[in-house]
Amino acid sequence: MATMTTLEEMATLVDTEDSPSSVMLGQDHLTDDDLLADHVDVVLFETTTNCNLRCTYCALSLPWYMGSDFDFSRIDKLVREMVAANVKLVSISGHGETTVIPNWETYCKYFQDHGIEVSITSNFSTIYSDSEIEAFARMACITISIDTVDRELLRQVRRKVDLRTILYNMQRIRLKALAAYGREPNFNWQCTLSDLVAPKLTEWVQMGLLNGVKNFTFGNLIEYKELPELLARDGAMIPRHVARLEREPLLAACQTIADGVSLARKAGANVVVQPGILEGINARLREFGINSPFTMGVPSRGTWIPHECSGD
Ligand SMILES: C[S@@+](CC[C@H](N)C(=O)[O-])C[C@H]1O[C@@H](n2cnc3c(N)ncnc32)[C@H](O)[C@@H]1O
Ligand code: SF4
Repeated sequence: MATMTTLEEMATLVDTEDSPSSVMLGQDHLTDDDLLADHVDVVLFETTTNCNLRCTYCALSLPWYMGSDFDFSRIDKLVREMVAANVKLVSISGHGETTVIPNWETYCKYFQDHGIEVSITSNFSTIYSDSEIEAFARMACITISIDTVDRELLRQVRRKVDLRTILYNMQRIRLKALAAYGREPNFNWQCTLSDLVAPKLTEWVQMGLLNGVKNFTFGNLIEYKELPELLARDGAMIPRHVARLEREPLLAACQTIADGVSLARKAGANVVVQPGILEGINARLREFGINSPFTMGVPSRGTWIPHECSGD
């Protein structure tokens, strides 16, 4: 059952290289007075740690996992403090699915009506209502977790997600945004890279480009050692880090990844590779006696920063 968490319980002040003044509203313990800094660019906001899915690599699939929701009854105070701190962007992400929160879109609108941009990371697993589509259309950047465009594999790994639902939602958002604002949100497709999805990455990029995606992020899979045994009983497919592949499949995966990255860059799209992917692949290649490093042609760095793409 969902529990509620207050701002005092959920706020963390963070400094990152990419965004020197940012505040994370999440699972740690600072007070909302931290928003009273005179200048905060980005607030990383974890609205919930609950979700409608149970992806086979996600901590939410652990049976003892307990989620909680942010207490939105204090949103007025939160927004006032954000305005006072000159917050430019609220980036909604974290370990849960914001779109399961009743009326989530009205909270986004509240930020936006106060001049604060909103971006989100979402699973796009349900067909959204018109008002949800409107909320997405108003955002500068939207990250969609879509590890593969192989429909059956996506369903196996991300369970109830249907590729068609993701694409349908995207096109409705694009249409709405064009009609209302004369521009589209900047879509970022995120692939949590694994042995299962690596072989079809070129198609993944192609499909993204065909659907107007301008940013592709490769996420570094963190394996939870308990999940394979726990999920084995329902025959679930559990992804493993791509670096666990054997020599020939690993070399084939490197080729597919390189082709996908090259395709994306030729089309003018951004590619972000989270730390841990290249390091893992190269350590594995060295085990096979291959010492020339695989680079993907892009530097390895942290999670995609939504405000980087807001100006296209
Ligand atoms: C935790 S989800 C939360 C947002 C939303 N529910 C979604 O799936 O987009 C954020 C991202 O974390 C990724 N993720 C989940 N479990 C992971 C793991 N074990 N290792 C690496 N990334 C993971 C997901 O694929 C997703 O792209
Ligand atoms: S949709 Fe996101 S939060 Fe939910 S189970 Fe999948 S990865 Fe985890």
